[in-house]
Amino acid sequence: MVCVEGFNGEAWLRGCAVRILSVVGARPNFMKIAPFVKALKRCNAAAAQEGPVNHFLVHTGQHYDREMSAAFFDDLGIPRPDSDLGVGSGTHAEQVGLTMIAFERVIQEYRPDWVVVVGDVNATCACSITAKKEHIKLAHIEAGLRSLDLDMPEEINRMVTDRLSDLLFTPDSLADGNLRREGVPEGRIHCVGNIMIDTLSEHLGQAKVLDMRKVLEVNRHGESRKTCTHEIASGNYAAVTLHRPTNVDDAEALSRLAKFLMDEVAAEMAVVWPIHPRTEKRLEDLGLLGEMNRIQKMVLLKPLGYVEMLNLNLNARIMLTDSGGLQEECCVLGTPCLTLRANTERPVTLEEFGGTCALVGNDIIKVRETFHRKKGESRRPFSPPLWDGKTADRIVRVMLQ
Ligand code: UD1
Repeated sequence: MVCVEGFNGEAWLRGCAVRILSVVGARPNFMKIAPFVKALKRCNAAAAQEGPVNHFLVHTGQHYDREMSAAFFDDLGIPRPDSDLGVGSGTHAEQVGLTMIAFERVIQEYRPDWVVVVGDVNATCACSITAKKEHIKLAHIEAGLRSLDLDMPEEINRMVTDRLSDLLFTPDSLADGNLRREGVPEGRIHCVGNIMIDTLSEHLGQAKVLDMRKVLEVNRHGESRKTCTHEIASGNYAAVTLHRPTNVDDAEALSRLAKFLMDEVAAEMAVVWPIHPRTEKRLEDLGLLGEMNRIQKMVLLKPLGYVEMLNLNLNARIMLTDSGGLQEECCVLGTPCLTLRANTERPVTLEEFGGTCALVGNDIIKVRETFHRKKGESRRPFSPPLWDGKTADRIVRVMLQ
């Protein structure tokens, strides 16, 4: 019996099925691996006798708080990892180095046929290098994205991972073009659509019926008792997320953005902000957390679960974010979105390409101008080709052909 709901050691050792080891490390990985694991499970279920795949899931432990990790396994129905490397936080070199050391042991013990990595976090890059040095075939889901900004740690992770991958699964034709320009052989590139949209499609129904009042109650940040129930129930709120070092590690940039939200956005509508742990620490250091808590329409929350965040996005009047994943979700749901970054590796989400996102960086003049332009926009859902909820099945088909 071969199993993808967890690791089946006996079948793995017999080596009768394709042995796939996939890796997750940080929050944005979980919504990308969930559909892949489910597609493997479907593939095995459809086989007459012993399924064609044995799957082993490794969590590097880059994210470890319950709200940043375990909650997503529960929400998205991902099986418990077969191995947790427990790497935790640290500098980039510490995270990548410790991951490589721990992952090399796993690879040497289990010798999979394939290592599958997703996205662009440090875990993605560290495990890609380790796999290839151990001569294991590598597949990258969400390949080909480029911001061309080497100040972003993720851009380095993307370039290294794509350079090493044997199979590159891209979300759109712009990503294909990036890989071709870099000389990636045509046979390795497979445009399969956006795997995150598989997760979105699966959970949209659940998100629509979620009671937001309960979500606000359960996820209140600190001592805050504000809920702004009326504004939130009527969709008169801006949803906000910030975690990129360019926005939150730079004290001036973070103060400017926080003041804009407090003084200008919260003057017009509620501001609902699930705070990333990295951002929370910076806001605390700058004394801004207390200040925000005194403003009636600033609703600070703990990091939300997947379905909760989907509900928040679905009903928001506008989103202000520096997250790549949320940009894509806003595009598909039609939420007017200010992308608080100087560049993006996901141009297909921008207004120029039919999406709902406007690239505004963190210059307040541009943020303000675009906020006023977009705050009254109606929803304009846009799904690029193949963002149809079937990406994971396409990937599995290619891998097993
Ligand atoms: C990482 C990814 C980023 C992704 C983001 C989503 C890299 C280079 N960055 O950034 O691409 O968009 O995840 O969240 O891989 N912390 C906790 N609890 C946790 C995890 C982190 O408190 O469970 C705190 C720690 O203080 C840590 C800080 O957050 O030092 C930053 O975490 P880290 O994993 O280094 O990067 P992220 O900013 O989360």
